Amino acid sequence: MSKKFYITTPVYYVNDVPHIGHTYTTVAADVLARWHRSLGDETFFLTGTDEHGAKIAEKAREMKIEPQQYANEISSKFKEAWSELNITNDNFIRTTDEEHIKAVQKALQYMYDRSDIYLGKYEGLYCRGCEQYKSQRDLINGLCSDHQTAPEKMSEECWTFKLAKYQDELLKKIKKDELQILPLNRKNEIVSFYEKEGLEDISFSRKNISWGIPIPWDKSHTVYVWADAFLNYLTGLGWSGKAGQAPKMWPAAVQLMSKDILRVHATIWPAMLLSLNLPLPETIFVHGYFQINGQKMSKSLGNVVAPEDLVKKYGVDAARFLIMSATAFGRDGDISFAKFDEKYNADLANGLGNLVARATKLIEKNGLELKLKVGSDKKLIEKYSKNMQSFRFDEALKSLWQKLKEADEALSEKKPWKLDLLASSGQAKIKKILKPIAQDILNVADLLKPFMPTVAEKIITQFSHKQIKKGEPLFPRI
Ligand code: MSP
Repeated sequence: MSKKFYITTPVYYVNDVPHIGHTYTTVAADVLARWHRSLGDETFFLTGTDEHGAKIAEKAREMKIEPQQYANEISSKFKEAWSELNITNDNFIRTTDEEHIKAVQKALQYMYDRSDIYLGKYEGLYCRGCEQYKSQRDLINGLCSDHQTAPEKMSEECWTFKLAKYQDELLKKIKKDELQILPLNRKNEIVSFYEKEGLEDISFSRKNISWGIPIPWDKSHTVYVWADAFLNYLTGLGWSGKAGQAPKMWPAAVQLMSKDILRVHATIWPAMLLSLNLPLPETIFVHGYFQINGQKMSKSLGNVVAPEDLVKKYGVDAARFLIMSATAFGRDGDISFAKFDEKYNADLANGLGNLVARATKLIEKNGLELKLKVGSDKKLIEKYSKNMQSFRFDEALKSLWQKLKEADEALSEKKPWKLDLLASSGQAKIKKILKPIAQDILNVADLLKPFMPTVAEKIITQFSHKQIKKGEPLFPRI
């Protein structure tokens, strides 16, 4: 029986154009979505953009355009980037979509009606970069550690969500992995946050931020941007805002993100779901953070890598491969073009590309007809699947490259080019050497599909012909 697999990325802020950080999450989600589709699972993959709030309003003001127009422009840049990268999201949700706005209002009204939201006052700090309320404990030398800026002082009346009420229930569920947080060190961090600091009620509305969704029972306030944004995971499935009625694909099997937004996802978000009588996501997976040449990526440093930079230099499939193999998923990674060049040349140009070229050339030259079968290496599939299942993409890829290396070594050792085709059973001998090598290449290509869909298909097509021919080089050297 096929399983359900719903995977999400965060909805990205439109205060910035897409960069390699967003790309990492989105490509990883695409790899998982493609893999689950190939297993026959009923799969839904959601991404989109987060368009309300103080940060976006301020950016639009700077640009001297209306926030909606500004959001439209940047949101379409995300769409373009994902289409260029061959991302197979089933929907692209925007938090300014009419249907999303209506559902958010309906949901908040329900939470208000059940007395989970009350009129309070927030006096404290707010980081506009994070769009989050901050306590002194969150700051380093008075600055937000993520944005290196001093948070603003706030004092305003606000509609407040009874977050603290859900402390015990959520902590229990997280500890028992009913809401699984991976990797384990991230779960431990969250458990310790619950135990040491604990949940406090949180402001769910802003009085002086007009760029947002009006609070349905008090139009002088707009919905706190995170409360608005979280609900995308439901509205992206067509949810109309009705409490207790989960859309068909909910709960999410995997919600992908990086560490910067784990805490809100492990506190406010599941509390909202409990308040709305909806199930919690199964797994939150937190991948690592990319740095560029040892530095935080930032506009002021001028070191931001855009997805189109990678695509232009390496091509779509290689760009996807390089991002996914840059570091163990879940660990922070330091990336650079020098490292990408090296990996491209070693693994793609000299590795996969060269082996395919050598093998096809020999097969064609000797006029061999090979009958190969996709998916015949059960051991390889097992190893690969285990790694995919546990988000070890780098290891999954390593197992494929190990196979390629063995095939390459077999070719070099057995030297079929030295055999005489015209000697008695010459062709049979050559075939005996080349067939298993071709078979390995085909098996590897099949498992590469989630990572490098176009190249993988190309290889599969090439090796499925009765007469295999040498083609254009797959990865020209850089
Ligand atoms: N809009 C919020 C999310 C709301 S979800 C209900 C937001 N947007 S964001 O544009 O800042 O995206 C943050 C996410 O982008 C990270 O969690 C991660 O998935 C990805 N990344 C952004 N920069 C990154 C790196 N430098 N490295 C790896 N991933 C990064 O937060």
